[in-house]
Amino acid sequence: YPLNAVSVQNGSMSKPLAEETLTSGSTAEESTLSITVVGASGDLAKKKIFPALFALFYEDFLPENFVIFGYARSEMNDEQLRNIISRTLTCRIDQRENCADKMEQFLKRCYYHSGQYNSEEHFAELDSKLKEKEGASSNRLFYLSIPPNIFVDVVKCAGTRASSTSGWTRVIVEKPFGRDSESSRELTRSLKKYLSEDQIFRIDHYLGKELVENLSVLRFSNLVFEPLWSRNYIRNVQFIFSENFGTEGRGGYFDSYGIIRDIMQNHLLQILALFAMETPVSLDAEDIRNEKVKVLKSMRPLQLEDVIIGQYKGHTEGSISHPGYTDDPTVPKGSITPTFAAAALFINNARWDGVPFLMKAGKALHTKKLVNLLYSKLIHYVLVCNWIIKALDFFDNYKTHRAEIRVQFRHVPGNLYRRNFGTDLDKATNELVLRLQPDEAIFLKINNKVPGLGMRLDRSDLNLLYSARYRKEIPDAYERLLLDAIEGERRLFIRSDELDAAWSLFSPVLRELEEKKIAPELYPYGSRGPVGAHYLAAKHNVRWG
Ligand code: NDP
Ligand code: BG6
Repeated sequence: YPLNAVSVQNGSMSKPLAEETLTSGSTAEESTLSITVVGASGDLAKKKIFPALFALFYEDFLPENFVIFGYARSEMNDEQLRNIISRTLTCRIDQRENCADKMEQFLKRCYYHSGQYNSEEHFAELDSKLKEKEGASSNRLFYLSIPPNIFVDVVKCAGTRASSTSGWTRVIVEKPFGRDSESSRELTRSLKKYLSEDQIFRIDHYLGKELVENLSVLRFSNLVFEPLWSRNYIRNVQFIFSENFGTEGRGGYFDSYGIIRDIMQNHLLQILALFAMETPVSLDAEDIRNEKVKVLKSMRPLQLEDVIIGQYKGHTEGSISHPGYTDDPTVPKGSITPTFAAAALFINNARWDGVPFLMKAGKALHTKKLVNLLYSKLIHYVLVCNWIIKALDFFDNYKTHRAEIRVQFRHVPGNLYRRNFGTDLDKATNELVLRLQPDEAIFLKINNKVPGLGMRLDRSDLNLLYSARYRKEIPDAYERLLLDAIEGERRLFIRSDELDAAWSLFSPVLRELEEKKIAPELYPYGSRGPVGAHYLAAKHNVRWG
């Protein structure tokens, strides 16, 4: 990984300089790494950022000299922050050997400073505290884990009063990056008053997921896939995200964004761009991001007739009652914000001309019930007792975030075995599935002869289930992305022109939906979502996987 240094003159952030100018007489390895989590009292910091930092520390990925500061308005001292971190730690490391010792060592490096987000004076105080811990030289990383309306205040104050004077200063910015093209450009303009593009690390945590990293490996380093990766062999591609729970307390944020901005314009579109890009010149961040921008610019903006929106309503299942979206006290009554959307997008280039890229994203959707799955496998063999069902139901109610890429291939021309498939030739096409979560897996649906005399075919899976193949745990996306930001690797972060191209695809339709006040189709909590999604797929001759 290259370390891209950013020099700071007269206390304010300036344009990047070459690595050699980093410090006088001290190398990057000797300097202290300071990480400041701005918004340290919040949900994301507790749930993801501190656990990821601890995991990096546990695995020895942090440099010898590092210090972590939490910054927020809440009154707290160092000990209270440490308590929060240790109490809320639910990372993959928490059952490991020596975890408690390591945690103690980690917490000793964690400090807290309480301050306002728009106070230069408070950031100057933070600067003094950082200097006390840092020694001669430092590199500083700020993680903005705060609502977007205060991003610019923080960047201004931290930039002028708390940036490093002896090493680089980088800022990780969380989504949402605006609500549409205009607000996103305005945010970029404002951030660039205080930061160079190289200092801004716009995070999309989906790019840090293991299977998303593997997407390019699968395609570019296996001869069997890349030649098939075009309109000649691929009939459609689907990007599917579903959660089996509702907004649950995040309704305040969610209601002003909706599912298209929350999931499609960023997470799913980023994966689509990686999936469909041309071969980059190299694995260098700029080469990859150049290809992603080209794909996004080749896409036609989403049309209203190619979008379906839905919103979940309350539903009672036995003794369990699930609230509807507008029953959430943080959601305004009568809100028409979509919690579900399906969309068909097209890439107007030689490789993908005419291939529908379908997206589907929704909250409070049905997931494959474990109990049903086991029923189908076991019903013939065992008498299923009531308590087993209850136990399985308990697990079913676990929160699940499901995300998949499904690639459906064309029919085999003149298939010799077509009569074995009856009239439904769709059942005979190959499908490649990358399950990003849960239970990471890659499987390829193939046609196979059922063993025995005679000729009967069935659909089987060539299945790479990660938990069966690899013993090592999969790191959380935030671990990978934090490490990349520390190491100056920008490949998995979003460049401003990428962001601009992404918004251009969705802003017109979002404006139209809002101006026309188009009401979402209601679907019951825990169902498969609005039936309109099936009509949309059928219109493009697609069947959801
Ligand atoms: P929170 O709402 O928990 O806010 C983080 C902290 O910011 C709060 O603890 C609070 O700290 C401060 N804060 C909250 N509201 C305001 C306000 N109106 N004005 C000033 N300060 C405020 O956010 P999250 O932790 O959930 O998310 C942080 C960022 O990450 C957001 O941009 C969010 O969109 C993004 N994100 C969050 C995800 C999640 O799962 N939570 C997932 C993906 C992205 P204090 O009062 O102590 O100053
Ligand atoms: C966030 C969205 O970006 O991603 C949330 O704001 C969503 O609404 C979350 O729940 C899903 O992330 P993951 O990694 O749990 O699938």
